[in-house]
Amino acid sequence: PAPGWSLDADIVVVGSGVAGLTAALRCSAAGLKTVVVTKARLDDGSTRWAQGGIAAALGEGDTPEQHQDDTLVAGAGLCDEEAVRILVTEGPDAVRRLIETGAHFDTGPKGTIELTREGGHHRRRIAHAGGDATGAEISRALVEAVRARGIPTVENALVLDLLTDADGRTAGVSLHVMGEGQHDGVGAVHAPAVVLATGGMGQVFSATTNPSVSTGDGVALALRAGAEVSDLEFVQFHPTVLFLGADAEGQQPLVSEAVRGEGAHLVDADGVRFMAGQHELAELAPRDIVAKGIMRRMQEQGAEHMYLDARHFGAEMWEKRFPTILAACRAHGIDPVTEPIPVAPAAHYASGGVRTDPHGRTTVPGLYACGEVACTGVHGANRLASNSLLEGLVYAERIAADIASRHAENALHARVPHPVAQPEIPTHPLLPPEARFAIQRVMTEGAGVLRSAASLTEAAARLARIHAEAAGALAEDGKTAEPGVDTWETTNLLCVARVLVAAAQRREETRGCHWREDHADRDDEAWRRHIVVRLNPDRT
Ligand code: SIN
Repeated sequence: PAPGWSLDADIVVVGSGVAGLTAALRCSAAGLKTVVVTKARLDDGSTRWAQGGIAAALGEGDTPEQHQDDTLVAGAGLCDEEAVRILVTEGPDAVRRLIETGAHFDTGPKGTIELTREGGHHRRRIAHAGGDATGAEISRALVEAVRARGIPTVENALVLDLLTDADGRTAGVSLHVMGEGQHDGVGAVHAPAVVLATGGMGQVFSATTNPSVSTGDGVALALRAGAEVSDLEFVQFHPTVLFLGADAEGQQPLVSEAVRGEGAHLVDADGVRFMAGQHELAELAPRDIVAKGIMRRMQEQGAEHMYLDARHFGAEMWEKRFPTILAACRAHGIDPVTEPIPVAPAAHYASGGVRTDPHGRTTVPGLYACGEVACTGVHGANRLASNSLLEGLVYAERIAADIASRHAENALHARVPHPVAQPEIPTHPLLPPEARFAIQRVMTEGAGVLRSAASLTEAAARLARIHAEAAGALAEDGKTAEPGVDTWETTNLLCVARVLVAAAQRREETRGCHWREDHADRDDEAWRRHIVVRLNPDRT
């Protein structure tokens, strides 16, 4: 259908986590007409679920170089060193500006920011808020700041596709909005610059720490628009997610690494600590190593989960330092003050995404990406804990600076009032919402924490069948699933799942969070390189 409504702007930001709202605030402060569109409510994305905190060299004796070293080690040889250098050197000031924007971090008796430790960090470097509610505080502060500046926002707006003008330049985005009064239905925001800040794709797996909105919409849009996507095989599984049963589905409660940072131990079914001896940092080894350690012990013991034991914290510390986790555990009948917490790995973070340069520019002119949707190169094969909020902040600021300077030089092309490509229902078959569960099962069984050529081949075939069924229905009677948020999300999930599996099949080695049973070792000669995908824009 033709767009039912449209807005004009200098820049449209898609997504409202730390990356999107920071980009919006900085662009607006630079005098650019900025519009934020977001799939649910402004504070519904992944940011508000972040617990542990935000990493930056803020402590006495810490330096950006030490932070860089830890980031590179975790990234297992695939980080872009320049991207990491930018992250760690610009990070501390970006955090200070976040504080000026209104975020309150926990402080010690002398008023200095309290810092904790997490996996892969050789020192205390993680600032936190509300004990273990860091993301919620950051989200609160940024949402308030966006509202105070009067930046126009459209909520409940699922992004569909990138709009381009006759010369193929970015001209905005099409959107489907549900229940927003004047902006109901399919519409468009016209703008010569688009910032994708849509977050991750954890919902591609059955059990994840991600909220239900994390369906890979930005990566799917970028693929359809012909942008390059990189490193999708590197899905990080968080080692310690509250275990609620082998068939638990959807968003699962996280038990922050900071709990281990403050001294909790991982123990097996016999109460034996098993990470000591596997790595010099034991429970605080980089995340992929701890997740693998847990999986191995689970296999050895035929157990469905391991335990995190932090009874020695005592009630007072649990209540003060980890109130969110304490409440989540108790809501599920587990009291961490008196019993060990059952935990198992679950999908947590996409280290790869839409490929960008150091200014957040994708390979499509005018299209930017930041936050989890982006692949700036800072994470390599495995993100270092608490670098994600920092990446969102730092690279959002860089994007805003780039857009502002291009705008000042008149280098952003003139706005096209009527983009050539009108918002349309995507031409590929839309999937029925029920297919979401089938996709999640396929991915969990075949492309989860432990992969092999056989499991990936099977996953690819099952995903192809899901696609073929929808395409067959379309060819036979011209029918496709009813357009709507559920169907578009499911279609996006299938798109990113297929590319992820293809990348995982291709990488015949074990590196970072990509673990191949049939290629147990890291192979620097053949594989110290990235898998970059660019689809023909007409394909899914
Ligand atoms: C956590 O609190 O363990 C999550 C931190 C992160 O994913 O960076």
